[in-house]
Amino acid sequence: MSKRSMLVTSALPYANGPIHLGHMLEHIQSDIFVRFERAIGNEVYYVCADDCHGTPVMIKAQSQGKTPEQLIEEVGISHRADMQGFLINYDNYYRTHSPENQKFSQEIYLKLRERGYIFTKTISQLYDPVKNMFLPDRFVKGTCPRCGAKDQYGDNCEVCSATYNPTDLKDAYSTVSGAKPVLKESEHYFFDLPKFADFLHGYVKTVLPPEMANKLEEWFAQGLKPWDLSRDAPYFGFPIPDAPNKFFYVWLDAPIGYMASFKNFCDKQGIDFDVFWKQDSDKELYHFIGKDILYFHSLFWPATLKGSDHRLPSKIFVHGYVTVNGAKMSKSKGTFIKAATYLKHLQPECLRYYFASKLTAQAVDLDLSLDDFVAKVNSDIVGKVVNLASRSAGFIVKRFDGMLGSTICDEDLACKFTEAAPLITAAYEERNYAEAVRLTMTLADEANRFVDSHAPWVLAKDEANNDLLQAVCTQAINCFKALITFLSPILPQVYAASQEFLNDKLDFNSAAQALLNHQINKFKPLFARIDPKDVAAMVEESKQDLKEAQSAKPQKEATPSSEYVPLAPEITIDDFIKLDLRVAQIIAAEQVPEARKLLRLQLDLGFEQRQVFAGIKSVYKPEELIGRKVIVAANLKPRQMKFGLSQGMVLAAGEGGQDIFLLSVDNKAPLGSKVH
Ligand code: 2FM
Ligand code: ZN
Repeated sequence: MSKRSMLVTSALPYANGPIHLGHMLEHIQSDIFVRFERAIGNEVYYVCADDCHGTPVMIKAQSQGKTPEQLIEEVGISHRADMQGFLINYDNYYRTHSPENQKFSQEIYLKLRERGYIFTKTISQLYDPVKNMFLPDRFVKGTCPRCGAKDQYGDNCEVCSATYNPTDLKDAYSTVSGAKPVLKESEHYFFDLPKFADFLHGYVKTVLPPEMANKLEEWFAQGLKPWDLSRDAPYFGFPIPDAPNKFFYVWLDAPIGYMASFKNFCDKQGIDFDVFWKQDSDKELYHFIGKDILYFHSLFWPATLKGSDHRLPSKIFVHGYVTVNGAKMSKSKGTFIKAATYLKHLQPECLRYYFASKLTAQAVDLDLSLDDFVAKVNSDIVGKVVNLASRSAGFIVKRFDGMLGSTICDEDLACKFTEAAPLITAAYEERNYAEAVRLTMTLADEANRFVDSHAPWVLAKDEANNDLLQAVCTQAINCFKALITFLSPILPQVYAASQEFLNDKLDFNSAAQALLNHQINKFKPLFARIDPKDVAAMVEESKQDLKEAQSAKPQKEATPSSEYVPLAPEITIDDFIKLDLRVAQIIAAEQVPEARKLLRLQLDLGFEQRQVFAGIKSVYKPEELIGRKVIVAANLKPRQMKFGLSQGMVLAAGEGGQDIFLLSVDNKAPLGSKVH
């Protein structure tokens, strides 16, 4: 088969925060793919970068008394160290704040403008009169217009889940200066995305799996909207040509950063950049992304490429989120784990293996269950794979001068390895790493049964068994060789140490081929078991990270007490009984694509059906809600929202964001029952 040539990217981490295990899922997933493709002989380039622009980076730099350039330089160093610590093997890790990216962003924009895809429109937005800057929603806080909770963000209330415009907040203030924002008009530059609707509608079906493409159908059905791609000064970004004081919105130049990072690499290496990015390129281009940035990658990005005569992504590989111990990563539980914190306590390959053992091509969430993590890594890598070598190598080295024998003794077992090899290859190719690991571990079980049944430690007691002893150990070592080679994209360090031990390059394409009459080296420990104490220490340190972050937070931004929202003022029973709470069942649920936090729910209250918009999108998937019984505040005045009428409120506990827990009721409760 002729060699394929491809460019692979992982999403660009923002330069305003640390790398955490959520990022690592994606970068490990891409790195395994890249290592596998290289192992089977394809040409692969793999690039990434820091995503440097935008208001959050600008504000963070200011708050630290630094220039944005200084901040991104420092963050870049720590991001690179974290990625390297997890053995992520990029060809280039660059930054979007670069000359290459500025040039590409401006050229692409000018091409789009020349083609008539850019127009301007005046819009009104909240403005900080002290800092003289427009305020993105997350930089405005105030009192919730619905429930009166203080210090709520500009787009939704984390206490009652109301959604609103920042202009609806009472006593609004800018989180940057504390000043009361004013409304101000400004001319914005828009990309005419609807002009690409027909093209995109067909295109997404070719780059996404059907279940993902189907999700996008809702967006197409509602009609694509023009994309506001300008931001007013002060803004940390690239200036828009011929538009004084206007800058590209960070999401315009972020994906162009893939091109820029590759260009920077090509220039250093003398590689032809254009053959990869020209319109009719036959090179493959793969983006690994999380499901939260699907809209940008499957709509805006292909449309900007198409409109500026560039090639399009060949496939977009979408993954889900990481949960820890069955819940969203939580700072207070110590399960929001930074990459650097993990690496202080544990080996990178443990997490690489655990993630791989659960990763498929589906965009489903992946749970890092910490007990299961310890058990699986110790049992599989140490107990089943490395142990195979450690049990047999001593006999070969001591009794046969390190020479593997000229035969193996169980042809059936050898056949199983040979037959599994193409299945493992196919599983990697389909990014079904869970299947590749499962097939490999099934072989490991077979190999261990083989060793147990021949008991080399018993054979070794009688020199008359020498030939058989050598054949058994030769086969066990060859089983180990195949297993570690199959796992090489996942465990690159153990693989490298095994190459040294087995004195062979361990080619992936001939993993199951036996080494016979071959000299091996003395066995050295290849992998250390996880000590559960190290996991506990990592969790403890992650809790500590939160405490430090909180004490460093400026007063205005701090949430009232880290763990508990203060009690509301006392009410009487008369106040309470005004509230009519009812049991309802969710009979339909769907995304509201233009709302960041909302799901649309159709509720059956027994006596009637209602539509409710609930701010629970960050935690619940529509499909998992259907059929669930919930409690609804049924006598709230209906509220007309941008997306439709919301007729009540579904009750949930928690602080909002990642901590939202829908209230449940005993399933036997009839629909419409009143809650007392
Ligand atoms: O969501 C994010 O973290 C973005 N920084 C990803 C950007 S990916 C690409 F488009 F640059
Ligand atoms: Zn509220």
